[in-house]
Order: sequence, then C-alpha cells, then structure tokens
Amino acid sequence: MKYKITVLPQNKIILADENSLLSHLLIENGFLVSSPCGGNGKCGKCKVKLINGDVYGAEMDENRMVKSCLARIKEDITVELTNDNKYKINLSNIEKVEPNGEYGVAVDIGTTTVLACLVDLKSGVVLKKATCFNPQDVFGSDVLSRITAAGNGNLLKLQALILNKIYEILNAFSEGGKIPLKKMTLAANTTMLHLFLGVDPTPMGAYPFTPVFTETRQISGEELGLNVHDIILLPSVSAYIGADITAGILATGIHKLKETALLVDIGTNGEIVLSHNGELYAASTAAGPAIEGASMQCGMSGVSGAINSVILEKGFLKYKTIYNTSAVGICGSGYVDLIALLLKENIIDEYGAFNYASDSVLTSKLNNDNFYLTDNVFLSRRDIAEFQLAKSAICAGIEALIHECNIDISQIDRVYLAGGMGYYINPDSAVTVGMLPPYLANKALSTENTAIEGAKKSLLDNISRQEICQIAHNTKTVELAFSEYFQKEYITSMPFRFEKN
Ligand code: FES
Repeated sequence: MKYKITVLPQNKIILADENSLLSHLLIENGFLVSSPCGGNGKCGKCKVKLINGDVYGAEMDENRMVKSCLARIKEDITVELTNDNKYKINLSNIEKVEPNGEYGVAVDIGTTTVLACLVDLKSGVVLKKATCFNPQDVFGSDVLSRITAAGNGNLLKLQALILNKIYEILNAFSEGGKIPLKKMTLAANTTMLHLFLGVDPTPMGAYPFTPVFTETRQISGEELGLNVHDIILLPSVSAYIGADITAGILATGIHKLKETALLVDIGTNGEIVLSHNGELYAASTAAGPAIEGASMQCGMSGVSGAINSVILEKGFLKYKTIYNTSAVGICGSGYVDLIALLLKENIIDEYGAFNYASDSVLTSKLNNDNFYLTDNVFLSRRDIAEFQLAKSAICAGIEALIHECNIDISQIDRVYLAGGMGYYINPDSAVTVGMLPPYLANKALSTENTAIEGAKKSLLDNISRQEICQIAHNTKTVELAFSEYFQKEYITSMPFRFEKN
C-alpha cells in the first residue's frame, strides 16, 4: 500500500511505501533537505514541519518539527519544508555589464559554499558576485560523506546538484543568455572537481587516497550543458590538496617569497601550506562543517543576515551582520569572535561548558545552556563542542605540518588566513579560541578568498595558468592521517587554553 506525502509550500505529492525514510523520499524527489551529519540524527538541520499526520522513528517537538532523516512513513502526511530558502543564490551586482564586452567567470566550489564572480576579461574588474550553499550537502556536509554517497550510486545525482546550481549562476550572470560568457575557471577541492565532471571519487575515500585526475582539464561548456564556451578546471596536488589551494598559492604568491610563510585555508577541510626555502609543503585536516556554520544550530554561510563579528562595547554586546541586515544566524567568523569573547568574559570554561557563576554582564544572556544574541539566534553547548573539534583540527594541522617539515614555529614570518571566512576572521580571536598557535598571533593576515582570487588570475592570462600548473607540480603533500604527532596535538588542542591577564 502506498501513502501520500504532501510537500508544502510546493504542494507536490509523493507516493511512498510504508517504513520509507522521509529524508530519502524528499531528496529523491528533488527537494533539498540539508543533512550536514549525513542523516545520523545529530544535527537537526533536516527538520521539517509535520502539518498533518504522524511518523514513527522521530520525535516531534512542540512546534511539530521532526528530523526527516529519522522519520519513517506509516500514514498519509503533509510536511512543510522550512529551510527551502537555504540554497537560494545571493547575487550582488557590483558594476554595469556593457553589451559588447568580453566576460568570463571564476568559480570556487567549496564543500559547503559556492562562490562565483563575473569578470570583465579586459580590465579584470569583478562585475557581479554570486554565493550559495553547495546543495550536495543533502548527502552530508563533508568530503568523505560525498565520496561515500557517490560510491552508493549517487554520483550522477551529486553531479546534477552542482551543475544545476552553476547553471543558475551562469544564467543570472549572462542575464538569461544575453551576455556571452567566454570561459570559466574552476578552483575547488579535488573531490568537488571529480563530482563536477561526474568522475567517481571513491578511490580517494580510502588509503592510499588516489584521485582519478589532478591535472588541469579543459572542456566545452556544451558538454556539461552550461552556457559558457570553455571550462578550465585548475590543477590539484593530491586527493586532499585541491585546486582551491593551488589557486590560493598563486593568489598570495607565497611560492615566490623569501620568507617562511604559511597559508591556512579555514573551511570544512582545513588545508595548510608551508613555503620554506623555495619549497612548498601542504597538508590537510578534516575540520568539519562547524567552521562554515553548517552543523551549528544557528549556523549559516557568509551571506546576508549572518553575524560575522561580535564585540563587547561599554558593557553591551554588539554584533555586525553581512550587509547590515537583521540577524538570522551566525557564520564562521562570527562564531570565532563570539567564542573568543565568551572565553575572555569567563562565560565559557576550558572544557567548553557555560559558567553561570561568571560575574560578566553577559551572563544574563545565558538560558537553558544556550547563549542568546537575539531571541532566535544563539550559541548552544553542543555548538561549542563541534567548534572545539574544528579549531583543534586546524591548530594541530599547523603544528604537525611544521613539525613534519623539521621547522621551528619561530621561523614562520607570515601567516595568510584564507578560505571563505579568511577575510572576515579576526586573527586575535582565532588565537584566543586556540585555532592558531599563540606564537603566530602577530604574524597573521586576513586575506580575501584566495581560491577565487587565484581562479580570477587564471581566467585573465595564460602565464598564470602555466604558473599554477608549476605550483601543483612542485607542492609536496605531507600526509597527516597517520601522523602520531598530529593525533597528540589534536587531543591536546581540544580544551580552550585562554588565560585572562
Ligand atoms: S539530524 Fe537529520 S541530517 Fe542531521
């Protein structure tokens, strides 16, 4: 017997067998249901509102919300998708597009966030920007869950999800095809590049982590049904050092520096590059989605309404949001600032628990093991635990790479903070929360998204495209997965070490 699932607001009807999983039904029928924890029932991001009927396997809260990854069908139901807007594209028009110009597109496909720029190929000026969540997160928020999903027969679905989003972005940039787009350069991690082309990434899911390809690839947009003449996939180094990193090296120029420098790309995967005596070494560490807000209860990517900085001013908590709109959630740099502030105010202790006995004025914002910035935007105890995993992975990754390359931390002259949140992150807050080792406090510089900058550079001239191939060829991968030093540092970096002067 089939049951009827009515999905609002689309008012679409799906027929379902008894016992089938609600999240699977929704995803299979083209609805985007965020699933950062991969359907383990932990993150709560897949919740839908049960308007009518009942399910089993999932508890219903006081607002009739249920975790769709746990909910199984036992009768006709009506559900409402409440995070349907999550995957919408945020488009900013920066400069006027002239009808006779030559245009190209630089794209950074992150595991969590997609960023694209429409670029005037003659002047290099960015005319439009688009950003959105990567819709592949319906299959889990990290690279490994996407690889697993691809191996379980979802490769073409994963490809279609990202191609549809890129199609929408190109359509918006070209004003419905009126403005011809000459070429597109793509910086992304190695798994995202495989999924973009529909190439099976499963060999990268287990030792020896072998990608099918790392070299630069050029194809026509037509082959993928995209409205752009040529597509150039930038080169990667290895399974976990992708084209987003080679593009970052190109953009910052650390490969040409005489000084010893680090590039730290802070994202779902934390990648660290060390440039020392003309050599390039790179390592990656699985920081998890917390750093981009995806697995946090009020987390969101760096789009309009995201709280991206927090300070205490004259006894009042002040925050800024992206585009100064009203706060709807918190993005990565906002979490770094907020947790740093609460550590300084002794509201969070060494182990990440809330300290109700603190004499800070901010204790009034604690309630029920949540710290409230607004009535609806809060930091929970569970968020702090997720954040601790992420910041420890990045800090341990930095320490371990330096150690494995036989370099002392005192030799580091400069640190570039990169990634989608690199530009917004406050280096002092990053040190306070223990994401960066204290010695690097005065060496860290926030940079623009270096992956998109590198993609832009590669879009504009052939010399940069040759240079990035050279970078990919010369960068040595340092494997931290089996490094005992990394494991030890990861555990010891977990507690917050901030000490008030
Ligand atoms: S709780 Fe359902 S996907 Fe995380």
